[in-house]
Amino acid sequence: METLRTIEEVREWRATGELGFVATMGALHEGHASLVRASAGANARTLVSVFVNPTQFGPNEDLAKYPRTLEADLELCKTAGADAVFTPDNAMMYPEPYRTWVEVEGLTDRLCGASRPGHFRGVTTVVTKFFNIVQPSRAYFGQKDAQQALILKRMTADLNLPVEIVICPIVREPDGLAMSSRNRYLSEDERKRAVGLSKALTEVRKLFESGTRNAGILRGQLITTLDDYVDKLDYAEVVSAEDLQPVNEIEGPTLVAVAAFVGGTRLIDNVILVDRDS
Ligand code: PAF
Repeated sequence: METLRTIEEVREWRATGELGFVATMGALHEGHASLVRASAGANARTLVSVFVNPTQFGPNEDLAKYPRTLEADLELCKTAGADAVFTPDNAMMYPEPYRTWVEVEGLTDRLCGASRPGHFRGVTTVVTKFFNIVQPSRAYFGQKDAQQALILKRMTADLNLPVEIVICPIVREPDGLAMSSRNRYLSEDERKRAVGLSKALTEVRKLFESGTRNAGILRGQLITTLDDYVDKLDYAEVVSAEDLQPVNEIEGPTLVAVAAFVGGTRLIDNVILVDRDS
């Protein structure tokens, strides 16, 4: 496996042929490994980027303390089947004076976008830049960031970017906790309570499967369960999986999405409800 440090090195390395791309911020875990494996299984070569993108963090967020574990990340990439890892620095990605941004309207101002203003502008900008540098045939993202996945699909379609977006399932710990780089911030007690997000979503899914279609009832159940586990709820929403608009009665594919603080750590999780009959 090669380590590429500059944009020029990536351009040289990128020959013709199917190239899979996995964008990450490092602190890699089994969830990322599943993306790399999916890419390696479907493309001649796979490139992973490791870049803690400063423009997607708000002023009071965890940019400075975001975990950086490059040695272990390189090992995970190699084991999962990556052919190269690209590790640019801030000056390379945002040369001064930097003035160009990519923004997707509408989908970005709710859920995570409401509590993290500017976050998705940072994500869409850096992903567009990576697409232009790497020029992948396919790019792999996790369903755990459901809103990010939807926004990146919209952006790729709207801008006619010649890349196929592949969304891979959430990978969970044995007790149900969705894998996240931020899980490593959790103390022992917080780790036990963090399972509340997936527990609450599982209860909602069961309620849905037993016939409940009223979004208010499902949301009420979600919040009641979360209250027993988390320290602060950011949001708990039942929205259309297509446009993120709130729904009253569930008719089409529906996203149930949660963001909550356990101690000082903000965690997210979600489930998509689909009517078997629809
Ligand atoms: O999902 C992430 O880790 C980041 O938002 C991404 C897509 C790597 C962009 O920095």
